[in-house]
Amino acid sequence: MKAAPPAPPDLRDLTRLARAARKHAFAPYSKFKVGAALLFRDGSIVTGCNIENATYGLTLCAERVAIFKAMSEGERDFAALAVVADSPRLPAPCGACRQIIWEFCGDLWIRLSDLKGRSRQLRMSELLPHPFDRRNL
Ligand code: THU
Repeated sequence: MKAAPPAPPDLRDLTRLARAARKHAFAPYSKFKVGAALLFRDGSIVTGCNIENATYGLTLCAERVAIFKAMSEGERDFAALAVVADSPRLPAPCGACRQIIWEFCGDLWIRLSDLKGRSRQLRMSELLPHPFDRRNL
């Protein structure tokens, strides 16, 4: 018989840190603030927020800011990600972020939450079921 999959981790504390990181968002154009927090297997945490730019196209999403901060600090053992935004629907990482999350973080747990306390926890493979990655090259 196949072993039951491990229970999803409790990402409520990580979500609180993503919510705090959201306060640093620089989003004067869209006014849409997003916070992200990354958990690593050694327990360390790196946060990020979205940072917009007058050209719009150079904007960085909260998820990518957190991932690139972490990569630049030598963190590699990604375990989980929390994302918080204030929106009518739960936040959903954009397509570019899904690609970057998959490539650097793999099939990690993600908790998506809004400011009303609604949330959904799922794995990256559910958000990007048919990925393009190094195995395609
Ligand atoms: N944004 C994020 O930071 N993360 C997401 O998951 C979706 C979108 C940002 C980019 C931009 O600053 C603003 O939200 C509106 O798209």
